Amino acid sequence: MDIGSASIRAVEVNGFDGPRPQIVRYAEVALPMNSTRRGEVVETSTVGTALRRLWSTGGFKTKDVVLGMGGSRVFARDLSVPRASIVQIRESLPFIVQELLPVPVADALLDFYPIAEEDGDSGPQVSGLLVAALKDAVNANVAAVAGAGLRPVQVDLIPFAMTRALAPLRTARGRDVLVSIGANSTNVVVSDNGVPQFVRILTNGSDDVTRAIATRLQWSPDQAEAAKRAVGMGGAMMRAEDRPVLEIIYEVVGELLAGIRSTISYYATAHPAEPPQRILLSGGGAQMIGLPNALQELAGLPVQLAEPLAAVPMPKRYKQASRADQDAYTTAFGLALGSHA
Ligand SMILES: Nc1ncnc2c1ncn2[C@@H]1O[C@H](COP(=O)(O)OP(=O)(O)OP(=O)(O)O)[C@@H](O)[C@H]1O
Ligand SMILES: [Mg+2]
Repeated sequence: MDIGSASIRAVEVNGFDGPRPQIVRYAEVALPMNSTRRGEVVETSTVGTALRRLWSTGGFKTKDVVLGMGGSRVFARDLSVPRASIVQIRESLPFIVQELLPVPVADALLDFYPIAEEDGDSGPQVSGLLVAALKDAVNANVAAVAGAGLRPVQVDLIPFAMTRALAPLRTARGRDVLVSIGANSTNVVVSDNGVPQFVRILTNGSDDVTRAIATRLQWSPDQAEAAKRAVGMGGAMMRAEDRPVLEIIYEVVGELLAGIRSTISYYATAHPAEPPQRILLSGGGAQMIGLPNALQELAGLPVQLAEPLAAVPMPKRYKQASRADQDAYTTAFGLALGSHA
């Protein structure tokens, strides 16, 4: 289950731990304004009602749910620790990571994902990713799900889910940068053979563009959204009256793409021996006309627009939906793939 800014999406997957997972059913329910904030449930009972509706319209046959956390409520940082068992490393985290966190250790749930063993200055080390989630945010989402009669069996990081869903799309050797542009967050993951090496969650996304158009041109949110989709970053059909919209889009998308580029540069500078080879782009925000080309020029890396669910088996009635409608379930699908059997 993927609790997003404007809707909740759920996917039921068969064979999630096997070689050929299949989507059995998926469904989405719209969320009333302000019932969640950046992926965190604010109004538990409103969201609970939406969840019950989602289960009855979707016809899901299980109540076991894997929840994703993302947005500004979680974050990931590189961390190297002295070599030890994973249990010992997890126990030591609260004592060693405070300076890496923007919140008190007591307010965060901490985890560590080992990536590689290495010899450091003071002996053998394990390098990996520190993942921290705000306790209150996780608890709020778990409570909403449990309150709707469902069983939250696991909580996972949304960028990890995205990596799982995109892993089969690798086309060549080397490191991929997976970039997913959502409504209010953008995930950047450097993945090596499907294993995340580096994760950043940027707290801007494509809704920033809609909001800027609506505010500056004094248009309704719906009008602004429609204009954003029609004009994009310009194309053959540009009309003179689209100029003001185009200028706002260039400015706001420009900031977003600059953030993506500097995140990739940061990684590349820190890992000169393992340069990123290409960008695999996904998320609704990536559908904007001209955006993939603009990112390619700015980042200086080939950009491929990912179609994460194109090869995933699913019933015909879902296959008939547009590619973008199907791909909206990428995060939820990736969360299901990470379920523990
Ligand atoms: N054709 C399009 N052109 C431009 N923008 C688009 C297009 N289609 C979708 N978007 C934008 O993509 C965003 C939604 O993407 P997505 O479904 O990946 O986000 P989300 O998962 O709901 O967001 P978040 O993960 O940040 O909560 C919205 O801002 C929407 O306006
Ligand atoms: Mg999303």
